[in-house]
Amino acid sequence: MARKKIPAIKENEVTPLQLFNNSRSLISASRRQFLAQGAGLLLASGLMPTSGWAGNKITDYKRSSLSLNETPTPYEYVTTYNNFYEFGTSKGDPAVNAHLLKTKPWSVTIEGEVGKPGVYDLEDILKRQQLEERIYRLRCVEAWSMVVPWIGFSLADLIKQMEPTSKAKYVEFTTLYDPEQMPGQKRRTLKWPYTEGLRIDEAMNPLTLMATGLYGEEMPNQNGAPLRLIVPWKYGFKSIKSIVKIRLTEQMPKTSWNESARHEYGFYANVNPSVSHPRWSQSRERVIGAPLFTPKRDTEMFNGYGEQVAELYKGMNLRRFF
Ligand code: MTE
Repeated sequence: MARKKIPAIKENEVTPLQLFNNSRSLISASRRQFLAQGAGLLLASGLMPTSGWAGNKITDYKRSSLSLNETPTPYEYVTTYNNFYEFGTSKGDPAVNAHLLKTKPWSVTIEGEVGKPGVYDLEDILKRQQLEERIYRLRCVEAWSMVVPWIGFSLADLIKQMEPTSKAKYVEFTTLYDPEQMPGQKRRTLKWPYTEGLRIDEAMNPLTLMATGLYGEEMPNQNGAPLRLIVPWKYGFKSIKSIVKIRLTEQMPKTSWNESARHEYGFYANVNPSVSHPRWSQSRERVIGAPLFTPKRDTEMFNGYGEQVAELYKGMNLRRFF
């Protein structure tokens, strides 16, 4: 069957990340609403390409006490409203194109300031981790959010198994680079491969999750299969997808969005309603999947995790280190 491309889904707020890259023409609000739902409808009708949909159930996980007590965003929205520029810059592109990514077998290179560097099979890594379901809100820098029942393991556990040296001050993550599987990499929307970074204490925080699934299933490709990061007190762009390399470093690593526009996207990227992005406010967020005319939600400092993480930034000027 010929794959039909879902028309570009544009955001009511003019997807800021996209605006940064290309100023495409806007379409009317009603059409946007229709298109935004289009991918979900295709999914429900069984017309969506299925090869990119993992669908395999994950059974061996426990529920985490770190979960939010909130109803998750419907699956259709979580899996059709995505940012994954390797598969296109429109929200619907990843759901249509990410079937091109082959996620099994998958290996992860672990290197840098560690006692146990190497190229590891993801399956072998997973054998040593305790999987948990954690319901977290993903707050995107574009001022929308969704609540997702992620499944994954604590990054701190993996780092401990890697035996970090005393020089390990930061962790750098890298997404797969393969323009044949990730056609968006043929365009220079970002500097490829996508990279992200955390300070080691952020990486070791118990909230930081390496996710391998959602909604009880293996991670759909468009959400970053087979392994992605979730840092719930930071903007979504820190949550790098389809990770192939984890490197512990002494120096602060370069990160893709910061490299593209350093005055707009900082290294820290902590959710902070009182520090606006240069082009829009961060004080409120649109709730994805909520009924039409639902008011925006007030964005919380550190996305609601102040008690757990504020200490990490004590004495830092968060306007300067945004
Ligand atoms: N990781 C890679 N490799 N490429 C991307 O374009 N987009 C980021 C992040 N991780 C991105 C990425 C952004 S901007 C957001 S908001 C989240 O993924 C979106 O995750 P979701 O599609 O699962 O909601």
